[in-house]
Amino acid sequence: MSNLDLSVVKSLLTAEEGDVRANVLNAFSYIRLALGENSWVGLYRKEEDGLHLSYFSGSVACLFIAFGRGVVGESCVSGKEIYVPDVSTLKNYIACDAKSKSEYVVPVIKDGEIKAIFDIDSDQLDGLKDDVSSLREIGHLLGELLNDF
Ligand code: SME
Repeated sequence: MSNLDLSVVKSLLTAEEGDVRANVLNAFSYIRLALGENSWVGLYRKEEDGLHLSYFSGSVACLFIAFGRGVVGESCVSGKEIYVPDVSTLKNYIACDAKSKSEYVVPVIKDGEIKAIFDIDSDQLDGLKDDVSSLREIGHLLGELLNDF
């Protein structure tokens, strides 16, 4: 069972007292703590030259990912979500943090276009299996609610 409560994520993302940045960072902190302190939750924004690190909660991460590189770049090129239960089995993987054992990525779509990749890392093997469907919904929500990534 997932610890993530989508209604909490939605209320954090739409809080009237906060600006967009504060709301996204609050929501990402909530998601990271719900998944476990050592997880990582963030967005890579799509630009013309590749994917740039944007809002995140977690430890130091790679700043730039080329199209097709790693699961983030692969998801951006294919337009498909990817769940990797064990990142050590994957050749096309960028290890930003040696603690990460499993990972989920989902494209964030706005106006029919991929604007960013929502990326979540767990320090547990197959650590996100119960959370994938909630995280997919959050990815969709980010596309609906945000204008800048
Ligand atoms: N592991 C990702 C890179 C981003 S970090 O996980 C934050 C990848 O293979 O694309």
